[in-house]
Amino acid sequence: MRINFSSPSISLAGPLVVGILSGGKLLATAKKVDKAAEGALTRALNASRFNGQRGQSLTVMAPPGVAASRVIMIGLGDADLIDELAAQSFGGQAWKSVASTGDKSALVAVDPISGSKLNVADLAANAAFGAVLGSYRFDKYRTQEKSSSKPSITTLAICSRDAAGAKKAYAPMAKIASGVFLTRDLVSEPANVIYPITLAQQARTLSKLGVKVSVLDEKQMAKLNMGALLGVAQGSANKPRLVVMQWNGAPRASDKRPIAFVGKGVTFDTGGISIKPAGGMEDMKWDMGGAGVVIGLLKALAGRKAKVNAVGVVGLVENMPSSTAQRPGDVVNTMSGQTIEVINTDAEGRLVLADAMWYCQDRYKPHTLIDLATLTGAIIVSLGNEYAGMFANDDELCDRLTIAGRSVSETVWRMPLGDEYDKLIKSDIADMKNIGGRWAGSITAAQLLQRFIKEGVKWAHLDIAGVTWSNKERPTVPKGGTAFGVRLLDRLVANHYES
Ligand code: BES
Ligand code: MN
Ligand code: ZN
Repeated sequence: MRINFSSPSISLAGPLVVGILSGGKLLATAKKVDKAAEGALTRALNASRFNGQRGQSLTVMAPPGVAASRVIMIGLGDADLIDELAAQSFGGQAWKSVASTGDKSALVAVDPISGSKLNVADLAANAAFGAVLGSYRFDKYRTQEKSSSKPSITTLAICSRDAAGAKKAYAPMAKIASGVFLTRDLVSEPANVIYPITLAQQARTLSKLGVKVSVLDEKQMAKLNMGALLGVAQGSANKPRLVVMQWNGAPRASDKRPIAFVGKGVTFDTGGISIKPAGGMEDMKWDMGGAGVVIGLLKALAGRKAKVNAVGVVGLVENMPSSTAQRPGDVVNTMSGQTIEVINTDAEGRLVLADAMWYCQDRYKPHTLIDLATLTGAIIVSLGNEYAGMFANDDELCDRLTIAGRSVSETVWRMPLGDEYDKLIKSDIADMKNIGGRWAGSITAAQLLQRFIKEGVKWAHLDIAGVTWSNKERPTVPKGGTAFGVRLLDRLVANHYES
């Protein structure tokens, strides 16, 4: 779908979307249409329960006196509460309301709203951003779908009094959206298409944006003593990879140390010898969600030329049971020198991250490291699908992530760490074991990760198991892969780490 920014117009023969404030208050374009259409909008408002509340909508088909085939009124709520997120939701709803009308193009009128925090350019840019995010669809394998059930709209014209300003404000958002789309594609792809080698190839495509990409294979990882990552990988015929993506957008910064993002990239998680039950196992194709976010994030940062030095590291493996798979009870060596007793081969993400995070710190000396992983089912028990779990060794980093999350609607909730939890992963024969007991499963997983964070490095771990995939449609997040984390971390970087 293409976005166009243009000046106010109601001359298109296709659908026209207008926003309505609470109390059924019409904005400039709606007033103009209402007048030309002999009061058709006002009459429709009076004849229905629609009163401009957020989320509501009301369509008037073929109104007299105007070119539009239909006028769709979408509730914006109270003017003083209209922020970026509200404008994005409006855009997402606008898209959904016109997508399958059968028309090829539609107009979305974005009028100035007195009392709103946003000017008309930012309103229009955010509406466009929301429409694009909401238009995502993963349909490449649906070969029999009738064109009549596919979206028909190919161009959405966003009309405002400051089309040039809107276009400018939208430019970086388009780059973020393309990072989000890449992540959604990667998590949606099945595991026979996306496995370590092909995921590494996808990461390599970022080099055309100026990202420096390097890939380690099995041999190179063995040389570095990455026994934990390799132990997970050894049961699969699909060979592991470790990918590093560097974006040096601030070459002249006084502190050249990067901020680092590390992602769990288990391209399929059967559980290994500690095999998972069959029901729902197909979900484990998106166990590379953390890696998917890191790749999409680097694409967004490079795309909008963020003035930051960032490094992304993803550990890519497939966790399979086989005669070469690791067994419960095996002890593995990590790159850090610490040893881990593998009690449960299904607690594999932390093993992959232990080596990936160590390598990242050893090689790139980041001041801050944020890891993302679909790490535990237990975080879904704790927080459901609304918040990602956040664990950290730094309060300021937590505050920054919390605030960035709220402003993009990818929210995080802090969970505790502490010595008493750390004791739960003591092993009798190695430095630690890879699971704790029955309780606090997300915390003991995070405690293991913390053992691989070097002194002085600010660290946050985001357990995204509950938010990576969605079964609920939202205006800017269709069902399926959400790309939760791309917008959050892009915003975090924009707020605090750009020079
Ligand atoms: N990838 C899973 C966690 C997961 C579960 C992600 C559901 C998304 C949805 C992870 O590797 C795993 O299997 N964790 C185990 C840990 C247990 C063996 C200590 C779990 O959560 O059950
Ligand atoms: Mn697992
Ligand atoms: Zn897993």
